[in-house]
Amino acid sequence: MSDTLAHPKAGQATKRLFIKTYGCQMNVYDSERMADVLRPLGYAPTETPDDADFVILNTCHIREKAAEKVYSELGKLRVLKEARGEAGQGGMTIAVAGCVAQAEGEEIMRRQPAVDLVVGPQAYHQLPELLTRTARARGERIGADFAPVDKFDALPAARGGDGVTAFLTVQEGCDKFCTFCVVPYTRGAEWSRPVAAVLSEARALADRGVRELTLLGQNVNAYDGEGADGKPSTLARLAYALADIPGIDRIRYTTSHPNDMSDDLIAAHGELDALMPYLHLPVQSGSDRLLRLMNRKHGRQKYFDLIDRIRAARPDMALSGDFIVGFPGETERDFEDTMDLVRRVHYASAFSFIYSPRPGTPAATMAAQVAPEVAKARLHALQALLLEQQTAFNESQAGRILPVLFEKKGRHDAQAIGRSPYLQSVHVDDADHMIGQIVPVEIVSGQQNSLAGRLIHSQAAHLQQRGAVSQATGAPSSSEAP
Ligand code: SAH
Ligand code: SF4
Ligand code: F3S
Repeated sequence: MSDTLAHPKAGQATKRLFIKTYGCQMNVYDSERMADVLRPLGYAPTETPDDADFVILNTCHIREKAAEKVYSELGKLRVLKEARGEAGQGGMTIAVAGCVAQAEGEEIMRRQPAVDLVVGPQAYHQLPELLTRTARARGERIGADFAPVDKFDALPAARGGDGVTAFLTVQEGCDKFCTFCVVPYTRGAEWSRPVAAVLSEARALADRGVRELTLLGQNVNAYDGEGADGKPSTLARLAYALADIPGIDRIRYTTSHPNDMSDDLIAAHGELDALMPYLHLPVQSGSDRLLRLMNRKHGRQKYFDLIDRIRAARPDMALSGDFIVGFPGETERDFEDTMDLVRRVHYASAFSFIYSPRPGTPAATMAAQVAPEVAKARLHALQALLLEQQTAFNESQAGRILPVLFEKKGRHDAQAIGRSPYLQSVHVDDADHMIGQIVPVEIVSGQQNSLAGRLIHSQAAHLQQRGAVSQATGAPSSSEAP
């Protein structure tokens, strides 16, 4: 969470809030909004649970390890809470929020008596009220009914933080029911925020100095929020409207499902400068047989065709994905199909996981679960290939001029770190005065996880390079120029 939130009004006693966030970007966004909703009550963020009056664990249920981390963290917090009580330092309220809270609220209460509050992802706006009656709320499992409409209407318009990039949730929930996944059960059905609400939050962020928005949703490209005409909008139309807001120069979105990659969104990638050429488009497996068992509702050829259409609209599109190895019944042949898919697509970055059986999902009870050592070996091979591709992509940037949005100071003196259009981290010396700006940077080298670059100082060089940027990225760079 942000450590730069505004402090409470003068005269109000400051209480310390510690939020620990697990899981996806939607949880990061939610944690920021929880801090926003608690700020008027006098809660200011602190960096450690040691001195916190209120601790929130914003949890993730996607894999077993993610869920288990919560219980071990709660064990440590209980010790801290008891020590503080014994030392007469006042109480500590402990809340569990997020997807584990939604999936197994009662279990949390049973396993860890130190927990005061369990609150599901759609009820964060109720936190102030819940805090004043924690005793009664205990065991209630607040927010198990999925009603995001209330949550977004009730969260405060003002948002804390002072970064130049921000997450903005536009869509929640999932109707896809992939057989391995808990998200449809923890976040409920697909629901999109109205266009007007998204635009007003984006304007507030732009006023605060934000220049890059990442639109979030479990299936963000299924966005169909109500437009000004009362009819459903699309993500492409929303992106055009957001790009019109003065100050908003870059737009990204995540996560997308291949089946929701509509023609107008693909076309927008070729036309809208602000839409960044980086797309996270998980495929999970390259085997048609497994894609069917996973209920992904598309085959490998459809994914290849989609990638071709996207690259036709935006030739320099950097692709990212998610992969699962060791799904029940995965054979060596199925795994080879995944490796083959990766070799054909060439990813700029990707996430890969060993399948983790999740309670209540259809895949958890499928026969022929894959042996752990086989799954591990496959993960190892897949990650080596993906890392090779990522490194090659980064290295291929050397010599190019890329527009970089500088976000923060680096580790060295006067060094600044920014992002390329392809979401690569770019380190530049003597550039800390450029934080908040989009500046052409000459890429000197590319490594596994980042790029090193140098500023191009003279205006003449800058103007010249704008042409180079346009040529190299295949798109005009007007919105990228400082
Ligand atoms: N909505 C997104 C993904 C959300 S979950 C989408 O459909 O692409 C993020 C990633 O976690 C998934 O893409 C998948 O690769 C992984 N994942 C989900 N459930 C999993 C499980 N049971 N075991 C291992 N990985 C899983
Ligand atoms: Fe999970 Fe599939 Fe929905 Fe993604 S699309 S959140 S993987 S059920
Ligand atoms: Fe995890 Fe929930 Fe996100 S399960 S990945 S925090 S939607």
